[in-house]
Amino acid sequence: MICKTQADYDGMRAAGKVVKAALDAAEKCVRAGATTLEIDAVVEQTIRSMGATPSSKGFHGYPNASCISVNDVVVHGIPSLNVVKDGDIVSVDITALLNGYQSDAARTFLVGNVSERDRALVAAAKEAFELAMEYAVAGNRVGDISATVQMFCEFGGYGVVRDLTGHGIGHNMHEPPEVPNFGKRKTGAPLKVGLCIAVEPMITAGGWRVKTDRDGWTVRTSDGSRAAHYENTIIVTDGAPEILTV
Ligand code: MF3
Ligand code: CO
Ligand code: CO
Repeated sequence: MICKTQADYDGMRAAGKVVKAALDAAEKCVRAGATTLEIDAVVEQTIRSMGATPSSKGFHGYPNASCISVNDVVVHGIPSLNVVKDGDIVSVDITALLNGYQSDAARTFLVGNVSERDRALVAAAKEAFELAMEYAVAGNRVGDISATVQMFCEFGGYGVVRDLTGHGIGHNMHEPPEVPNFGKRKTGAPLKVGLCIAVEPMITAGGWRVKTDRDGWTVRTSDGSRAAHYENTIIVTDGAPEILTV
């Protein structure tokens, strides 16, 4: 969506606040001994308490309010009775709908004593996003974001997942344009003032290849390496982008 009216801007901002609140609530309950279903329940309660609805629930049959992806799971992990353990890295991805506007964001949380290598992986996903924001300006193209994420992550020795991308967002969770985490500068859709996109580096400590479990959702690294995800919904402007989910 390209925001055109004040109502569009306000609607996207309000939806962003819901997702941010749900991520904060999730962070508080991500600890050794918690099940991913418990974390999901807190996410759903938080979203509903703010008058919003969890967009992922029922999306192509997806069963839950959040995607919770542990260790080698990159994205779309289904909450379960599995318990989070010391040393795990836990990605929580949340999309909420408020007054007709969607917002989408993800974080990878650290559980207890996480290895230095995994801490660096998680930090790199966030840094890639932040660096990409310097190129997410009207007049540039989607490829300027994509190339920035790819170059930063590959230079660091990380795998950049190719099978999944960021995306436009607005009245729908997924809208054009696609926002890949790899690509070439000065290519792809033009970034315009008001354009709403979800930028979401998905990176691994190994290769970029992924596979999907037989549940049809859980996406894991093919080589068993761990993965990190960092996503925010943003609005493109003439200057620094407006980041709605921080
Ligand atoms: N939040 C995911 C994204 O970043 C989409 C999740 S759809 C679901 O695009 F059905 F898996 F929840
Ligand atoms: Co998401
Ligand atoms: Co997304």
